[in-house]
Amino acid sequence: MKVEQAKKYIEIKLDTKDVSIAVVLGSGLSFLEDSLEGLKKISTADIPGYPVSTVIGHKGTMSTGTYLGKRLLIMAGRVHYYEGYSYEEVVFPTYIIHSLGIKKLLLTNAAGGVNRNYAPGSLIILDSYIAPFSKIYKNPVTSPYSDKLNALLEKAAGISNVRVSRGCYAYMTGPSFETKAEIDFLRLSGADAVGMSTVPETVWAKELGIETACVSRISNFAAGITGSSLSHKEVLETSAGSQESFITLLKEFIKLI
Ligand code: HPA
Repeated sequence: MKVEQAKKYIEIKLDTKDVSIAVVLGSGLSFLEDSLEGLKKISTADIPGYPVSTVIGHKGTMSTGTYLGKRLLIMAGRVHYYEGYSYEEVVFPTYIIHSLGIKKLLLTNAAGGVNRNYAPGSLIILDSYIAPFSKIYKNPVTSPYSDKLNALLEKAAGISNVRVSRGCYAYMTGPSFETKAEIDFLRLSGADAVGMSTVPETVWAKELGIETACVSRISNFAAGITGSSLSHKEVLETSAGSQESFITLLKEFIKLI
């Protein structure tokens, strides 16, 4: 019911027909909209039933437009479980994507580097996740990350000469950053990156039959690696700086889909 109302509002305000892919931009990653032709943009706060982000750096907009002939729906800003929202609310945008008939989804997030080789600025294409301290509804039988979209992301990286790696994302519910001991545990468990988002969305999208990929941009070394303490400000600063390779990768990827 809530989804139907939101869908109706979005269909009136934006051009949602024939969208090839929905792209969700995480912390400090609100670019790309600037490159869209025929940009239409709304504040997600005006969408009936849409959860409002309380986090700095998540601006809460939804837009549609065309990039090199591809129709896109871009969502900037998301809500997190640690803000006090239920998983049903966290994945509300995923239901909307489904209701609009969009079949592909690219998620992005800012994450801590657990693998010591992944310094701030590294781009990681996710091919698995662990969620050791949380129960997120249920886990899919096979990886929720699309092999096909991941292959296209790698192809796009090759064409545009952007360095990417593959990796495993550790989903933590927050709200605090992890302890050093938790990061050591996550590393031993095979995690390469750690963050507080996108896994619920990915799991739901899989359930709804949406082909999904996720790219993490490492914004900081995870807790205990450098000895200095972490802050959301640092996450935003790294995300805002040197985004160029991420933008290049996303644009090349969109050309390929
Ligand atoms: N931990 C958890 N979430 C994060 C981090 C981190 O180090 N960086 C960005 N999001």
